[in-house]
Amino acid sequence: MTAFFSPFTINGLTLPNRSVRSAIWEGMATDEGRVTSRLVNTMGLLARNRVGLIITGHAYVHPAGQAGPWQTGAYSDDLIDGLRQMTDRVHDEDGRLCLQLAHAGGHAATRLTGRTALGPSAFAGRFGGMCRAMSSEEIQETLEAMAGAARLAQAAGFDAVQIHAAHGYLLSQFLSPATNCRQDDYGGSLENRARFVCNAVRAVRSAVGKGFPVLVKLNSEDFVEDGFQQNDMLRVASLMAEAGVDALEMSGGTITNPQETHCARKVHPSRPDEEVYYRPAARAYKTAISSPLILVGGIRSLAVAEQLIGDGTADLIAFGRPLIAEPGLIRRWQSGNHDVAACISCNRCYVPLQAGQGVSCVVASERHQRKPR
Ligand SMILES: Cc1cc2nc3c(=O)[nH]c(=O)nc-3n(C[C@H](O)[C@H](O)[C@H](O)COP(=O)(O)O)c2cc1C
Repeated sequence: MTAFFSPFTINGLTLPNRSVRSAIWEGMATDEGRVTSRLVNTMGLLARNRVGLIITGHAYVHPAGQAGPWQTGAYSDDLIDGLRQMTDRVHDEDGRLCLQLAHAGGHAATRLTGRTALGPSAFAGRFGGMCRAMSSEEIQETLEAMAGAARLAQAAGFDAVQIHAAHGYLLSQFLSPATNCRQDDYGGSLENRARFVCNAVRAVRSAVGKGFPVLVKLNSEDFVEDGFQQNDMLRVASLMAEAGVDALEMSGGTITNPQETHCARKVHPSRPDEEVYYRPAARAYKTAISSPLILVGGIRSLAVAEQLIGDGTADLIAFGRPLIAEPGLIRRWQSGNHDVAACISCNRCYVPLQAGQGVSCVVASERHQRKPR
């Protein structure tokens, strides 16, 4: 058995191999955020193809935190039936499913939420309008919504939850001095800026109990002037480990960054050593922190994934776009075809997504159409 295809356990949850489907906004839910049969089938397909842990696209925990259309919701107990269908399907395929808990903060889609977006401080959101600073009551309400969504996930049969604290969304906005100018307990020093995410971890932990895996997705750095830096990440990761996180997924950049530093960069890896976007940060994390590390970003070949596990850079390897292009990637590798992933990181998967057709690989479907029949 190779390192990549060996099992790994996170707080009692044993994964059959080291592969993770990183969260991908699927754009397959209803206008109210209800799970559809298409979303259930998408998750089932990944599980059948032996992805070790599947993380859902970001699910909004509060109506004010919706990032975009057709996004899965986790803001009401009324949504449990669809969520349960999704976990049932994945379990039928012997897979493991984790719900990503999210709030878009100052980047919420106000045309969908019908309210002013809320951030740590006022700043211009990606849709052009200014958000306003959350009151301490609104912070408390959001923490309760995170805990409520985690409870819902557990009741719906999920195997884990992941708190989304990366990519410039709400918790990441609180961590960054570029968007957090608060002068209360939630702003100023790094410890204060980390208070929201640490309290979210505590709230979620107390909702789901000790034996349920709680993960966090965090940036290695934001790549933004005056933003969250690698040293901040190491300190925050250690605070979160103390607060009860079972594993951290490391990403980087924000959704409003230019392409070169975006969380889903367009760069096409031409050499295996260019594949891994955050290798030095991952190594720094593994030297300083004992909690397991899931690494995402630009990883495209089995040899690189094996090397990252083998040399201790990461414990698990996450794939975003490669599994859109090729849901059967992990099964293909396991069956002995070790060709590099088909994904060319072109980001055209956003095109059908933004048109309301659900995420898919445009390149793969063009290739399919060109095939002689
Ligand atoms: C279409 C699309 C949707 C995404 N949705 C999410 C999301 O819901 N939550 C999240 O944390 N990251 C999201 N990401 C980022 C991915 O999880 C991942 O971090 C990024 O694509 C880099 O990994 P890759 O090079 O393997 O694709 C998304 C990326 C893409 C391309």
